[in-house]
Amino acid sequence: MPTHVAIIMDGNGRWAQARGLPRMMGHRAGVEALKKTLRLCNDWGIKALTAYAFSTENWSRPGDEVSFLMTLFERVLQKELDSLEKEKVRIRFLGDLEALPKRLQRLINEATERTALNKGIHFNVCTNYGGRRELVQAAKKLAERSANGEIDPSLIDEHVFSAELLTAGEVDPDLLIRTSGENRISNFLLWQLAYAEIHVTEVLWPDFDAAALKQALIDYQSRCRRFGGLKTTVSDSNEIIS
Ligand code: IPE
Ligand code: IPE
Ligand code: MG
Repeated sequence: MPTHVAIIMDGNGRWAQARGLPRMMGHRAGVEALKKTLRLCNDWGIKALTAYAFSTENWSRPGDEVSFLMTLFERVLQKELDSLEKEKVRIRFLGDLEALPKRLQRLINEATERTALNKGIHFNVCTNYGGRRELVQAAKKLAERSANGEIDPSLIDEHVFSAELLTAGEVDPDLLIRTSGENRISNFLLWQLAYAEIHVTEVLWPDFDAAALKQALIDYQSRCRRFGGLKTTVSDSNEIIS
């Protein structure tokens, strides 16, 4: 099983359009798919789930869609917080949170604090998240710390760098799932996905269910992860010895 699963939840708009519904209904249905997926991951022993909810580029959508999404995030968080707490989920929001509506920010702070010590799945919701912005922020912090003498620039390595990212303390995702058949990353976890296995499914996000998740996990289990090395099996290592 993967330790950490990351998901680009895409296709809400197309799901709604295919039913002659406004795009917003797709977002609403998408929330249900996320709730189900979180429970399944928690039940199946996955340690972390990171979901892409709103990108730094999504602000360019029509104002009514953006404000619908912000209100939806607020309502869902308010409604689900008690169950998240009960189910021992540790929720965090990754992204530039200061640009979000104040009420949503307060709820995010409350949810983060109330679940901080929970021992269940780590549930990271990427909200106003952009991989490039995250990398620039990390570089800026390291530059500042170097300039004020806190760290020696020659000691900056991958470990030091990744500790400045929003995902600090989390292992990198093993599996990236993208729904709705798009073969791209869309500025998601650019650093962290370096060696993730990628599973793209045609399923639109609101239709993502236990069968679709199982399919992704089976696909993951069929992969041979080499991390730049060579595939080693028991017989290979015997050959090397003999
Ligand atoms: C993903 O669904 C949700 C967000 C980006 C907020 P989309 O809204 O991108 O749905 P499509 O891609 O238009 O179908
Ligand atoms: C990626 O989906 C962002 C989220 C799922 C939040 P988009 O629909 O915004 O991505 P593009 O525009 O198709 O690349
Ligand atoms: Mg999309």
